[in-house]
Amino acid sequence: MAPPIRMKNEDLNEKQPDEYEEFVNSKEFLNLRENLDLSPLAEQYHIASQYTIGTEFKMAFRIRVYDSYQLSSQEHLVPAFVYPGTPKIQLPVFKNHLKISKLLRKRRSPKQEIYGSVTLKQINHMLFAAHGITENIFLRTYPSPGATHPTEIYLVVWNVSDLNPGIYHHNLIENSLELICSKKTEPKDILATHDLWDNAACLFVFSLELPRTTKKYGERGYRFALLESGHSSQNLMLAATELEIQACELGNYYDNILCEMIEADGIDHIIGTTVIVAGKKK
Ligand SMILES: Cc1cc2nc3c(=O)[nH]c(=O)nc-3n(C[C@H](O)[C@H](O)[C@H](O)COP(=O)(O)O)c2cc1C
Repeated sequence: MAPPIRMKNEDLNEKQPDEYEEFVNSKEFLNLRENLDLSPLAEQYHIASQYTIGTEFKMAFRIRVYDSYQLSSQEHLVPAFVYPGTPKIQLPVFKNHLKISKLLRKRRSPKQEIYGSVTLKQINHMLFAAHGITENIFLRTYPSPGATHPTEIYLVVWNVSDLNPGIYHHNLIENSLELICSKKTEPKDILATHDLWDNAACLFVFSLELPRTTKKYGERGYRFALLESGHSSQNLMLAATELEIQACELGNYYDNILCEMIEADGIDHIIGTTVIVAGKKK
């Protein structure tokens, strides 16, 4: 596969504001410019938190210990704070029939096996929610740190009508799918635990080209990039809910295998998150 190419600034017809011209020629600018590429802590953290085949067993064990402790202990980590003895203001009932409220109530991650195909039209609707341009390349359906937009979306396709299995990249400018690899894969090649997903339709992979954001925000840009992929994936899951498609965010992917599939180096171009979908629930 040939590496991706980047749009040029000229193609966007953006003119640099005059106020920057003087600064660009200053000594401070040149000193700072050299440091824009540095975000070593983010890199170290990312590498230390990856799943690769073999390391996921440690995590599986940890999760078992945690679950057993939670069940057996009186000190459950109940995920809600309360402040006893403080004055309380009961919030009024607010009844609305907005579509978004209905979708939010309805969204649920499947806890049973999912199976069955989805259509290309449904994929298009989900991609619009997750990655759609609404005004221009910088203004889309989800918020982005400083409009740096680190997220790219790839699809690992297993069972989509009108689309051959393979790995595709979403070209959001043309709103097309670019076939980058036609090699056959199975969910178990990518996911550490896969029983519920063996017959899924496809996996959306939200990758992040970190320097787009870390050049601007340094180490903090790493957090920002992850947040962006969360916004984008939540939009996708709400669109799936609207279409009555089963969708589940998955963190149990092997980083190195997915990176290899999309030819990401795992350092500057990483996996942010994934969402698996299928038409039906067993
Ligand atoms: C970052 C993240 C990673 C997740 N990874 C997995 C996963 O690997 N496997 C899984 O079955 N569910 C996964 N989930 C889904 C959660 O289990 C699910 O959101 C949670 O049980 C609450 O259920 P709900 O989504 O229906 O509200 C993940 C969710 C998030 C936000």
